[in-house]
This record gives sequence, C-alpha cells and structure tokens, in this order.
Amino acid sequence: MQMTRSQMSLLLCLLSCASTNGARYTPDWASLDSRPLPEWYDEVKFGIFVHWGVFSVPAFGSEWFWWYWKGAHKSEYVQFMTKNYPPGFSYTDFAPDFHAQFFDPDEWADIFEASGAKYVVLTSKHHEGFTNWGSPNSWNWNSVDNGPHRDLVGDLGKAIRKRSLHYGLYNSLYEWFNPIYLSDKHAGFKTQDYVAKKALPELTNLVNRYKPDLIWSDGDWEAPDTYWNSTEFLAWLYNDSPVKDVVVTNDRWGAGCYCKHGGYYNCADKFTPGQLPNHKWEKCQSVDTLSWGYRRNMKLSELMDLPRIIKDLVYTVALGGNYLLNVGPTADGVIAPVFEERLRGIGAWLKINGEAIYATKPWRVQAENATSLVWYTSKNTSTVYAIITANPMQNFLKLAMPKTSNSTVVTLLGNPEPLKWIPLQSIGLTVQLPELPSSPAQAWTLKLDGVA
Ligand SMILES: *[C@@H]1O[C@H](CO)[C@@H](O)[C@H](O)[C@H]1NC(C)=O
Ligand SMILES: *[C@@H]1O[C@H](CO)[C@@H](O)[C@H](O)[C@H]1NC(C)=O
Ligand SMILES: *[C@@H]1O[C@H](CO)[C@@H](O)[C@H](O)[C@H]1NC(C)=O
Ligand SMILES: *[C@@H]1O[C@H](CO)[C@@H](O)[C@H](O)[C@H]1NC(C)=O
Repeated sequence: MQMTRSQMSLLLCLLSCASTNGARYTPDWASLDSRPLPEWYDEVKFGIFVHWGVFSVPAFGSEWFWWYWKGAHKSEYVQFMTKNYPPGFSYTDFAPDFHAQFFDPDEWADIFEASGAKYVVLTSKHHEGFTNWGSPNSWNWNSVDNGPHRDLVGDLGKAIRKRSLHYGLYNSLYEWFNPIYLSDKHAGFKTQDYVAKKALPELTNLVNRYKPDLIWSDGDWEAPDTYWNSTEFLAWLYNDSPVKDVVVTNDRWGAGCYCKHGGYYNCADKFTPGQLPNHKWEKCQSVDTLSWGYRRNMKLSELMDLPRIIKDLVYTVALGGNYLLNVGPTADGVIAPVFEERLRGIGAWLKINGEAIYATKPWRVQAENATSLVWYTSKNTSTVYAIITANPMQNFLKLAMPKTSNSTVVTLLGNPEPLKWIPLQSIGLTVQLPELPSSPAQAWTLKLDGVA
C-alpha cells in the first residue's frame, strides 16, 4: 500500500508523539490524576511492608518513639528512657546500635517470596529522617556513614529483584526534628528551604539511584502539596524519570490529598471501606496491631493471627484493593520467627487459593450476605470465586448471588473433583461441600465456572 506524505507523518506521529509530546503530564492534579495506573499493580494484589530504622534500636512502643519521647512527652516513653539510659542520652545515640549484623537480604527476600507477596515496600526514610541509604543530603544521619555502614535500600533491592518481585520505597516527606523543616514550619510554610535542600533532592536521588517500582509517600500532612512541590515532582516522575512507565505512587502528597489525588489511594492507615471504592486502593496493615516498627514489648495477643490476616486480604481484594502487610525487623536485621510463620502461612494458603486472588477483578457483588462469610472475586465474565473465610460447619452451602446455567461447574480449589450442586428457585445455588481439607488459615475457595 502506498502512503501519502501526510498519512506517513501522521503514522510517525502516532508512533512517537504519544511517547514524547502526546502523553506529557503537566504539574497539576487534573493532568497527573489522569495517568492510568501501571497494570502490574492491580494484578499483584499482595505486598509486604517493612518498617526499619533507628526506631528499631529502642524497639519500644512504636516507630514513633522519638516523637512520643521528645515531641509529645508521653510518660511511658519518658520513663522508659529515665529508667534505662543515662541522663543526656539522645535519640541520635541509638544509631550506632543499629548494627544489622544478621541482615541477609536473600533470606528476607526468600521469606517474602514464600509469602506469595509480589511486591515489597521498604522504609527508605521514616519521620526520624535517618536514611537507609547513603543519601548525599543526610549529613551522617544515614545507614552508610552510621549504624550498619551498609546500603540497606540497595542491598535489599538487589535480592528482591533477583526473585522478580517489585520493589517499592516508602519515603517520609517531613522529618520531625529537622531544623530546616522546623524553620519552614515556623514561617507558616511560606519558605521552602527544606524542600529545596532536603526533601526533593533526596527523593530524586532515591528514584535515580534505585529505580523503585512504587513510591509510598508519607509524612505530608502538616503542609499543602504546594509547599512540597508534589505536582512538580510527580510530573518529572511520570514524564522524565527512569521509572516513568512503571512507577506507581500513592496519595499522600500534601494536606488534603489522600483519598483524592495521586496514583492509588491509601487514605488513612488501615483504610477499611464498607463498599467497593471507585478508585484503586491499598489497605496497609501491620501484623503487630500496635506498631509498624519492631517492638520488644509486643505480646502474642496483640498480633494478627493467620485466619485474621487471610480474612483481611480476601476482604480487601474482593473490594478491589491491594493488601500491604507490614513486618518490622529487629535492629540486628532479623525478621522475628513469629512474623516469618505468619508470612509462610499466607504463602501456603495462596499456593492453593492464589488463583482467586492474583489478577482478579471485583465481581458484581462483593460478599454473599451480611455475615461476610463468603467474599467474591472474578477472573472474567464467567469465572467467579467464592472464598469462604470460616468453616461453615455444614455439608451444604447456599450461595444466593451467582446465576447458574446448565454448564456451571463448581470445584473446591485444591480438590480436582467437581462438586454436586443444585440451583435455588430464582438465582443462586446450593453446593454440596466435601469434607473440607484442613486449612490453618480457615479459608477455602469455591471456583464457579459458567456463572453470571
Ligand atoms: C516549586 O515549584 C515552583 C513552581 O514551578 C518553583 O518556582 C519553585 O522554585 C519550586 N520550589 C522548589 C523548592 O523546588
Ligand atoms: C449468611 O450466610 C450464612 C452461610 O451461608 C448463613 O448461615 C446465614 O444465615 C446467612 N445470613 C443472612 C443474613 O442471610
Ligand atoms: C475464565 O478464567 C478461567 C480461569 O482462569 C478459565 O478457566 C476460563 O477458561 C476463562 N473463561 C473465559 C471465557 O475466558
Ligand atoms: C438447560 O436445561 C434446561 C432444563 O434443565 C433445558 O430446558 C434447556 O434446554 C437447557 N439448555 C441448554 C442450552 O442445554
């Protein structure tokens, strides 16, 4: 076929303009919010969050240790210090004891992979301001010049990527006690010295150096996005950065942004919507329900057990979310065996039931009834998964929502034999359950092929 000159230039433009001029984002929310979320993120569904920093050294109360001690003067933190440390001991004195001497990134990555997670998000810098890499803007408040004397962000990243998991980085925009930040704050955020000298150069360094697949922004809420220059940063990230096509971001980019602007929505920590949100979201949750960082004073009763974790994961995926489950390693670099056991338990469940989780879409209804015993996910128009999150203790399970047809086939994942079922009067069916195989997670999946 012969092409005219103008057809030819149109074709060339379609091929190249889209990736250069056509799809450039401008530094405003209308443009940035129109960017489609890179597809990998919705498919992976399950990730591991890792909170690790100098707060892992006192390992008491919470990763907000410094703030509770010196900012809020909470009595249990003040007393903990008075009782156990000499007068004049400062938070920065904890850093040399952040040894990470047992940190084996491959061992961590093996555990994360065994959990069935497809992405891992590490705190590159929490609100204490200590960077887990040799940030050029961090004086000696970083893991290369101080503490472990190691590039923690880089070393974990290599191990994660060797296993084809996605690597994300958490970054706190604010730093509680950074004098430059505090000076901007006292000026009512009319000056941007901290953003110019610290926040933005550091974030840019992180992106250029480690090419994260995901940026989990936090610590934004005291100042507007115009103080952080969030839209300028995101426009660079989406247009010109080395990760412009794959990077996924969350929604914490300035006061009032969360649940409204950015990539996917985190909204508040542990966000638990009551119905299907109309925007991709993520629930972050910690195995230790009282802290994201490791704390030596945790009790077993304060931890999520496996059935509770699986229920939470299933609920989240049924409502279209991703589940980011947190563990806090010790300052020695160990993932406590109790956390490891939880993670391996999730992986064992996903080995059988992962088909009902990964790359699924929310179905036309999300749950069977008000008891929330059965949650639904779907693969395509005719395959629906009914995930039972507690043993129904009966031989027949009524599902009122699926519309069956003559070709409907019901199976229990992990069990090759199709199950007997009979239709209910108008829509729905009753399934004859086999004896349910033992499941430490207390959750089983019925696959319904040929339903609507
Ligand atoms: C923030 O963006 C504005 C507008 O582009 C620019 O004038 C200003 O210099 C930026 N501030 C920093 C700290 O980058
Ligand atoms: C919800 O489903 C369970 C199990 O199928 C059933 O026992 C219960 O009666 C149902 N509740 C309602 C309100 O329909
Ligand atoms: C729907 O997905 C299931 C599971 O992946 C597959 O077995 C089935 O063939 C698919 N059906 C259609 C119509 O694509
Ligand atoms: C489905 O079953 C009904 C009755 O059981 C029958 O009348 C109908 O012809 C069947 N349809 C097909 C497509 O086989």
